[in-house]
Amino acid sequence: MEKRMGLCLRGHGIRQMRTGWADGPEYITQCPIRPGGSYTYRFTIRGQEGTLWWHAHSSWLRATVYGALIIRPREGTPYPFPKPHRETPILLGEWWNRDPISVVRQATRTGAAPNVSDAYTINGQPGDLYNCSRQDTVVVPISTGERHLLRVINAALNQELFFAVANHKFTVVGADASYLKPFTTNVIMLGPGQTTDVLITGDQSPGRYYMAARPYQSAQNAPFDNTTTTAILQYTSAACPTKGSANAPPPAFPSLPAFNDTATVTAFARNFRSLHRPPVPTEIDENLFFTVGLGLNSCPPNFSAAQCQAPNGTRFTASMNNVSFVFPSNWSLLQAHKYGIPGVFTTDFPANPPVQFDYTGNVSRALWQPVAATKLYKLKYGSRVQVVLQGTSIFAAENHPFHLHGYDFFIIAEGFGNFNPKTDSAKFNLVDPPMRNTVGVPVNGWAVIRFVADNPGVWIMHCHLDVHITWGLAMAFLVEDGVGELEMLEAPPADLPVC
Ligand code: C2O
Repeated sequence: MEKRMGLCLRGHGIRQMRTGWADGPEYITQCPIRPGGSYTYRFTIRGQEGTLWWHAHSSWLRATVYGALIIRPREGTPYPFPKPHRETPILLGEWWNRDPISVVRQATRTGAAPNVSDAYTINGQPGDLYNCSRQDTVVVPISTGERHLLRVINAALNQELFFAVANHKFTVVGADASYLKPFTTNVIMLGPGQTTDVLITGDQSPGRYYMAARPYQSAQNAPFDNTTTTAILQYTSAACPTKGSANAPPPAFPSLPAFNDTATVTAFARNFRSLHRPPVPTEIDENLFFTVGLGLNSCPPNFSAAQCQAPNGTRFTASMNNVSFVFPSNWSLLQAHKYGIPGVFTTDFPANPPVQFDYTGNVSRALWQPVAATKLYKLKYGSRVQVVLQGTSIFAAENHPFHLHGYDFFIIAEGFGNFNPKTDSAKFNLVDPPMRNTVGVPVNGWAVIRFVADNPGVWIMHCHLDVHITWGLAMAFLVEDGVGELEMLEAPPADLPVC
C-alpha cells in the first residue's frame, strides 16, 4: 500500500439522518484517516431491518476491506416471516493476485480497462473449482427441516453476480435492508452494493450441495473473469466424506444462467415489491433526467501513449449528463459546504442532458466529450425528487448498479430503450415499489427512482462498479438544511479527519 494512502470506511446503505459526517466516502464527506490516525463513525440506525454491509470507500481498497452489517428486528419484534432457525451471511467478493492498488493504477493511469480479476469468492474463499482451494472451501451447515436465512451481499468490485444453491429454492424476503413480498426463485442476481435475503429449507436428502456464484455480464465483448466460486451447503446429518477419499459422491451443482442472460435478470427484478405499502411520493418537485454511461475520450496532448491504452489510443471515461465526476483532493465536499470554502465544487450539475439523442442506439462517440468537473445538484430540504437514470450506449452499453448514499429510494419503473415520459409514466408503480439503495439500471435501458430529500448533507450517487467510479460515473446531491434543529446537518465530530 502506498505510504500516504489513507482509509475511509462506510456503512453502505445506512439511512443515517443528519450525520453525513459518518457516511464515509473519501473526499465526499470526510478526508482520509491517515496511517496511525483514527476516527469513530457515530450514527443511529432507524427503521431499517435486514442486511447491509460496510466497506472501505477509498480508491479500490474495498477489494479486501468489507464485512456484513446485519440489522435484526428489535427485541421482542418478530420477522415478517416464520423465524429462521439459522442465518448465515454470504459475502460474494472478487480477488486479484496483484494488489488492488496496482490494478486501479492500470485503470487510472493507462486509461485502459483494468485487468480481469483472478477469482470470485464466497466468504473470502474462492472454493474448490479453483486450483489449490479445496481445503478452504466454505461449508455452510443446514439441518433437515430447518429454515435457513441466507443474507447474500455482493461485495465484488466490478462484477454483477448470479447466485444459486443446488436443489434448493430461494424464497426472497428482503433486499437492501427492506422487506419484500416473498417470492420464490431458483437463482438471484446482485449488482455490487446490493444485498438480498433469501430463505432456504432443509428439505433435500441429507448430503452436500454446491452454492455457486458467477458473472452476469451485460456488456458485449468486455473482458471478464468467467470463473465460478463455490461453497458447500452440508446437511448436519450427512456422512462426512473421508479425507482424500475419491469415492465420495460429488455434490450436486446448481444450474446458473448464461453470463449474458438479461431476460432472467429482468424477470427477477420485476418480482420485487415492498412488503408494506410504503410512503411513495405521488407528486414531485424535482424532475431529473440523468444519462449514465461510458465513453471514450481523446488522449490529452500531454499524455503519453502508455497513458492512453483504450481502443485506438483513447482513454476510457464515464459520465452523467456529460459530466465526468472529479473527486476533490484538498477538502471533502461536506466540509467545504459546511465551512463555505469556495472553489471546491459548483452546484450547476445539469437537471437534463445537454443534448438529446438516441441514448441506446448506435451513436457516434464523437457526440460527447464529457467535461471533467466536481458538479453538485442542489436540493431543497424536503423536496420530492424523481430521477430517471437513462443508460447510454456511447461506448459499451451495460447494466450499471447505481447507488445513492444517505437514502433509500423507490424504484417505480424500469425498462429498455429510451425512456418515454408520456408512455412510460403509465407504468409507474406508486403502490408497492421496492425500496432500495442500489438499482441495476438495465443495459440499454432506464430506471426511475423517487425519494424525499429529508437528509441534509452531501450525498454521492454513483455506479457501484468501482472501475466506473474511477472513470467518473458519479455525481453528488447537496441537500440543504431545513428549518429547526431536527432538519439540519449535525455539527462535525471533533475527531473528523482533515485533509
Ligand atoms: Cu457501497 Cu459509495 O458505496
